[in-house]
Parts: sequence; structure tokens; C-alpha cells
Amino acid sequence: MFAIRLTETPDDAATWVVPVGSGEPQAPGDVGAEVAALAAGIAEAGQAGHIEPLPRPLRSPARVLLAGIGDGDEAGWRAAGAAAVRAAAGDETLEVLLPADAGQAALRGLAEGLWLGGYRYRDATLAARSGEVRVIVSTIEGYAESLTDARVTAETTWLARDLTNTPSSVKNPAWFADQVVAEAAGRTGLTVTVRAGDDLLRFGGLRAVGGGSATPPRFVEVSWQPPGATTHVVLVGKGITFDTGGISIKSREGMKLMKKDMGGAAAVVAATLGAADLNLPVRVTALAPLAENAVSGSAFRPGDVITHYDGSTSENTNSDAEGRIVLADALAYAYEQLNPDIVLDLATLTGANAVALGKRTAALYSPDDDLARALTEAGAAAGEKMWRLPLADDYVENLRSDIADRVSAPSGPGSVMAALFLRDFFGDGRWAHLDMSAPSWAEADDLDLSKGATGWGTRTLLRWLSALHSGQ
Ligand code: BES
Ligand code: MN
Ligand code: ZN
Repeated sequence: MFAIRLTETPDDAATWVVPVGSGEPQAPGDVGAEVAALAAGIAEAGQAGHIEPLPRPLRSPARVLLAGIGDGDEAGWRAAGAAAVRAAAGDETLEVLLPADAGQAALRGLAEGLWLGGYRYRDATLAARSGEVRVIVSTIEGYAESLTDARVTAETTWLARDLTNTPSSVKNPAWFADQVVAEAAGRTGLTVTVRAGDDLLRFGGLRAVGGGSATPPRFVEVSWQPPGATTHVVLVGKGITFDTGGISIKSREGMKLMKKDMGGAAAVVAATLGAADLNLPVRVTALAPLAENAVSGSAFRPGDVITHYDGSTSENTNSDAEGRIVLADALAYAYEQLNPDIVLDLATLTGANAVALGKRTAALYSPDDDLARALTEAGAAAGEKMWRLPLADDYVENLRSDIADRVSAPSGPGSVMAALFLRDFFGDGRWAHLDMSAPSWAEADDLDLSKGATGWGTRTLLRWLSALHSGQ
């Protein structure tokens, strides 16, 4: 990730980014008056995410970008940062002139926008942006913590995006597990357990779904357990490294983006690493059931009965409903082994998520009003949208099976039915499920989202975990 540096004096050799909101834009010297006059004549200059380049031939600074911050809230600053980094060349040094009265939230939004908008999928050796970004502040002290929050958020989101953008020829369950081990090893206070082979005997769902693949399943557990933590949060993420649909095979069109089907696992792992980076005083365990849903002679079949970790059974009625089957084992494991206070699961679970809520909004399910509200608020602050849908009891009957405790793919509204299936594995305490199929991917660059994987959930989880201990 490129550097963002806080500094107190602007440099004429850089490109100046001048924020524009409802008031007059501020820049030092004669540039200030000129910029204010020009901005006043451009109706859309203050719109969040609008960039207006002002060429200044033979003068200094060489280039000025007006960056609209809208209402000047965190989202407006995030949009301005993302738009500015997109408008600049990779080696261009940017200097954002933060007004003296801009608060911590402004800097956090700005820095997140710069970093998230500056993301490019890359291999380990190639960084997308070489020029640094400087933010000119009146005093560095007050802003250091905001920059750290933004850095951790962006770094972990970049990681989730990288994992999700990685092609499935590389990204098999063992590879994903190795990445998690390596990331955790570079930090202090994290432990990682990777289960494979005979250690997965009780994980009947994970073995069934992963049974058709040449690259067998893994179950990854990442634990952040700071001394004195009282609340234990378990984060479960769907980790299907590629989803062909299995024997109930998908269409070509439906399969095209299915390397992203581990976006939930990427987000929960990334957020847990972030909790360690921020030294959050809450115990967090991430669980990632990892499998490839492949087509082969050893793939699980429609009509098969699966025995989950808790001993309950599911009749597979559509092997393309594989996500809920692996999540069920992980949820059962969490309740039996981990004594959680709160369990959240994140999953690219159903195409129906996008049908109901469009391309940018996850579906949120929870029996717990307070938890639903806290998650929605964290998402709104972080720039990730979710909308609560009902765990509609009207459809519970559809889960009935003649030969098992439930069917895996009952008829009914798709995203709701998946949530009802998962609710069967909900034990004590508080639980929420996020169906993030739609917002896990961006078809094109869009401010803080770069084309491809979005890392959806990482930002929300970090905000929510941070708010949890501060008692908000
Ligand atoms: N991974 C898919 C869901 C998905 C679809 C995610 C599109 C992102 C974009 C999931 O495993 C799946 O195939 N779900 C089925 C469920 C059905 C068989 C009950 C679906 O949505 O069609
Ligand atoms: Mn599927
Ligand atoms: Zn899937």
C-alpha cells in the first residue's frame, strides 16, 4: 500500500488537492483567492466525489484538483479521497490541503478513500501507486489515530480483495489457509489452527461439498484473544474457493465470477487480523470453512444425506446450495466449542440477494433488533450498505425432509430460505447473518470500489468491533 504522510507545510512541486464543500475552499497565498473564485463558478464543484482539474501553466503548484466533499461528512471525504486518487497519475505526488477545522472523521474518510480508491489487484512485487500522498494538516498530533484506523481498515480490505481476486487455479483451500497462516505470523497475538483430513471427520457438510475437488477442504480458525477481554465474538465466513454448482451445475454465465465465493471468509479473516492490528480489547475468533464445489465422480449428489458437526442431518436437494452446508458445520462448531457471546456469519450465499436489494446492498438477518441496528450503523459509517430482511416463519415448513432433519434447498424466497436454514444452527446468545453476494463485487471502478472484489464486510466488521468495546 502506498504511503499517506501527514505534514504541516504544503510544497509547490506537488499537485494540490483542494477540498470543496458548501463553504469557500481554502488554499494558501494567492492560489487561495484564485481557487475560490474558480470554484464559485462551477456549480458541481462541491458534489461529493466530483473532481475539477484547474491547470495552472507556468505557475506553481503545477496542478490543482478541486475535490468535492459534499456535506463534509465522513462519506463525503471518502468520496473526495477516492476521486482524487483516481484522477491522479500513479507517480504524481498529491497534497491534500485539509482545512484547519476538519475533524478526525474527515481525515479518516479522506485517507480511506485515497487508499481504497487506489487499490489495484496486484502480485506481491507490483505496487499500483508509487507517488506518495501527503495530507497538509494544521497539527499532526490530533490526526495520528484516525490515520491508523484508516490504514488498518484499508490494509485489511486490500487483503480481502486480493484473496478474492486471486484466480481459483491458485486459490484452493490449502492455499487460502497458507495465506492466513502467513498473515497471522506477521502480527503478534494471533493463533491459527488449520484442520484437514481426519480432523474434519465431524464436519460432514464441509467434506461433502469439498469431496468433488482435487484440492480437499480445510477448516481455518483464527483467534485474537487479548488479555482481559470479556466479550467473545465469533465470525464465520463462507469459503468456497470456486463454485461450479457441483452436480447441480451452474450455467456459463452463472459460473463466471464464482472465484469470489470465498469473499465472506476473506472478510472475517481480514477483520480479525485488523482487530489485532488495532489491539481491540475484544476476543475474536474467525472460522473459515474452505472447500471447492467441483463436478466429478466423487462430488456429492442430490439426494445425499449429510451429517453436520452437531449430528443433525440435511438432505442435499441442490448441490449449488453448498454455502449453507459448510456454514452449518462452522456454526455448530462455534456453539459447541467456543462459547460465543455473538456470532456473525458473512456469505456470498444467494443470487436472490441482488434480485431483492440490488448490486450494492447486503441482506441482513437477525432475531436481535439491537444487533441488527448496530451492524447497520457500523456499515453506514464504514461505507457498506445492508438492509434487514425477515426470518419469515411462514416458510419454515418448506425445510421439511422425508429422510433428514431438513432439506438444503427448500422452495421459497431464496435469500430468506438460506437464512432460515442457517437459523437451525443458531445456539445461544446473539446472532446475525449477512448475505453479501451482491456487494462482494464491483463491475467497474466506482469511487472507493475498484473493479473486481470489494472486500465487502471487512470495513463494517472493524467498525462494529471497534464500537463494541467503546460501549456505543
Ligand atoms: N455462490 C452462490 C450464490 C451467488 C450467486 C453469489 C451469484 C454471488 C453471485 C451460491 O452458492 C448459490 O449457488 N446459491 C444458489 C442457491 C440455490 C441453489 C438454492 C442460488 O442463489 O441460485
Ligand atoms: Mn452454489
Ligand atoms: Zn456458492
